[in-house]
Amino acid sequence: MQHEIHHFASLTEACTSLVREIIRLARQATEARGIFSLVLAGGNTPLQLYSLLAAPSLLAEMPWQNTHLFWGDERWVPPEHPDSNFGMAADAMLRAIPLPDKNIHRIQGEAASAETAANLYERELRAFFADQPPVFDLILLGMGADGHTASLFPQSPALEEKNRWVTAIPAPRNLPAVDRITLTLPVLNLARHLFFLLTGPEKLAIVQQIVDNQKDAAQTYPAALIKPAGHLAWFTATK
Ligand code: 6PG
Repeated sequence: MQHEIHHFASLTEACTSLVREIIRLARQATEARGIFSLVLAGGNTPLQLYSLLAAPSLLAEMPWQNTHLFWGDERWVPPEHPDSNFGMAADAMLRAIPLPDKNIHRIQGEAASAETAANLYERELRAFFADQPPVFDLILLGMGADGHTASLFPQSPALEEKNRWVTAIPAPRNLPAVDRITLTLPVLNLARHLFFLLTGPEKLAIVQQIVDNQKDAAQTYPAALIKPAGHLAWFTATK
């Protein structure tokens, strides 16, 4: 399998390139189907990406009125909690873009349990896709230093999930050690386009193992199980 890797010296350069790609895909999707469905990654790395995407100079280029935002995973915390992936995106981007509230499809981390939040999110996705397969135009993912992606952690039973679109994950060892809610592999692998964004030598070493032998890497790293029907690319930076 040929791997498409865009490597940069810095995260800023990687995010600048990735923003251009996101805008290109957003315009292409909107022209083709009238909307652009974008799944945001959590964690800290994409914060710079989201701030760049919300830059005043780019507002006119991005078809925000036709864009629908989703999240690949969430922590079981309320949206105002410092560990909320929605909260991070809200601070970095949502407040600065002309996105209609109805186009924001967040995971309700404030629900009574992670399982309830997962069921509610699956219900929202099934309504959005009118019970057709959930083919997102673009899914953004990060990767942990253990090779997890979204909230799919190594050796997790959730890696075997074939039917549910969204599932709850018991609190991992990884911080923040709270229950999670995550899209499942069948949904991630339906994406028209799926881009990873990651930095640092530990994660780059995992990417190299995936490039060298994805089958072997998939025994250890959930990120190696990401083989979308569509286009996969890695946006990586040395630091
Ligand atoms: C999460 C993320 C997770 C993240 C990686 C990398 O909720 O934590 O979705 O998959 O992308 O853990 O996180 P950093 O970018 O903070 O290293």
